[in-house]
Amino acid sequence: MKHFSLLFIFLVILLATSYSDAFTRNNFPKDFLFGSATSAYQWEGAVAEDGRTPSVWDTFSHSYNRGNGDITSDGYHKYKEDVKLMAEMGLESFRFSISWSRLIPNGRGLVNPKGLLFYKNLIKELKIHGIKPHVTLYHYDLPQCLEDEYGGWINRKIIEDFTAFADVCFREFGEDVKLWTTINEATIFVIGSYDQGISPPGHCSPNKFINCTTGNSSTEPYLAGHNILLAHASASKLYKLKYKSKQRGSIGLSIFAFGLFPYTNSKEDEIATQRAKAFFYGWLLKPLVFGDYPDEMKKTVGSRLPVFSKEESEQVKGSSDFIGIIHYLTLYVTNQPSPSIFPSMSEGFYKDMGVYMISTGNSSFLAWEATPWGLEGILEYIKQSYNNPPIYILENGMPMERVSTLQDTQRIEFIQAYIGAVLNAIKNGSDTRGYFVWSMIDLYELLTGYTTSFGMYYVNFSDPGRKRTPKLSAFWYTGFLNGTIDIASQDTIQLQSNFSGSSSL
Ligand code: NOJ
Repeated sequence: MKHFSLLFIFLVILLATSYSDAFTRNNFPKDFLFGSATSAYQWEGAVAEDGRTPSVWDTFSHSYNRGNGDITSDGYHKYKEDVKLMAEMGLESFRFSISWSRLIPNGRGLVNPKGLLFYKNLIKELKIHGIKPHVTLYHYDLPQCLEDEYGGWINRKIIEDFTAFADVCFREFGEDVKLWTTINEATIFVIGSYDQGISPPGHCSPNKFINCTTGNSSTEPYLAGHNILLAHASASKLYKLKYKSKQRGSIGLSIFAFGLFPYTNSKEDEIATQRAKAFFYGWLLKPLVFGDYPDEMKKTVGSRLPVFSKEESEQVKGSSDFIGIIHYLTLYVTNQPSPSIFPSMSEGFYKDMGVYMISTGNSSFLAWEATPWGLEGILEYIKQSYNNPPIYILENGMPMERVSTLQDTQRIEFIQAYIGAVLNAIKNGSDTRGYFVWSMIDLYELLTGYTTSFGMYYVNFSDPGRKRTPKLSAFWYTGFLNGTIDIASQDTIQLQSNFSGSSSL
């Protein structure tokens, strides 16, 4: 049985690695950044400690039965231990987010000294270990008080409050932080939060799938998307005027991007795919690069799509020094009525896009098929359509059942296939500058709570001490980062057999 599974693993690795030539960390440019990521609500815990107030994510997770981030991996108390693990792993960069309501509990105004101290200490600890911070300012966790006061991202008041929050972050942390992402996976954040109602604050029109208490899927996603662009551009302008010449950092916006390919080689499916790309990528990227929304969207969404004033358009255009890409899955796109993986709501973003999207394979919640050509396709498209901007892959990784095994070989195959795709894209001229595995450690998951996890470190959530244990992927990433693992060699298998004796939970 053991031999059979080793043979199977060998074949799978062969298949995954035959996708690109053999490579090591040293095949990437020296200043390319390999890192891993977490976010505040998912990693920190300590939600009611030291002056933090609730965010919309606290409210959302407590409103249904899928766990919450009250304690989660307890990064707030265990950050020193985690940074040590990162250093042992050889991480070059750590991507984390700042909890707005920990830093500024009332959403605007007074800064919480204890919140400030936490992030200063975390950044100091990273610096001591030579790990570069990549900071996300907004990761689904608006202070609940701002949501209550004026409705958060669907109100233009957010622009001023977000910019003031960003100002505090640049001023307090900017000496040591050179990479800032304003808003996490802005596209899917807007779709999940204002069209589908599946992520905080959970807005959608009445529909047969999700029972939202408020929302309008026809208008709110476009309004929130517009305000996100304006808030991002405003924070970016502030950074450039007040901080950049001294701090010399870069600021970008991140989008979630599916790989998108036509289902058949028919002309109709090709056109449908172009339309899907305009909606999924162009919606935010076209304004960032060219100052306006894609024509395909203007045509279909009509007056529900906000219009940029001349001044706004100029401010948004060129406001991202880089584009952050969050990528996990690839889909086929077709014009022909087909069972789409998205619920067919009678209104909203998917209805407007007007295409059917089909899974590329056997991907399920627990086992995602690696389709690295999906990521290569995205990088090629962005290179060609948006003037080849600098790119960071800010998240990529694979969920697995959480309490199963430490031997996460499938995850290793997944990650190495995508790192290979990044290398291919760079060889083809893409200006991709970094790759981050989601996630550094097991944490509270956005859609599945604690049933699945992406972590390279296992966390025992039943243990009050939240003991961390490395999975095989942590050993693999360590070897890759220190240049001892050659991706198309037998090294992974060697690692796998060394590990197998100690892999049970
Ligand atoms: C997207 C989000 O940024 C993150 O919060 C989430 O946990 C992962 N991807 C996995 O779903």
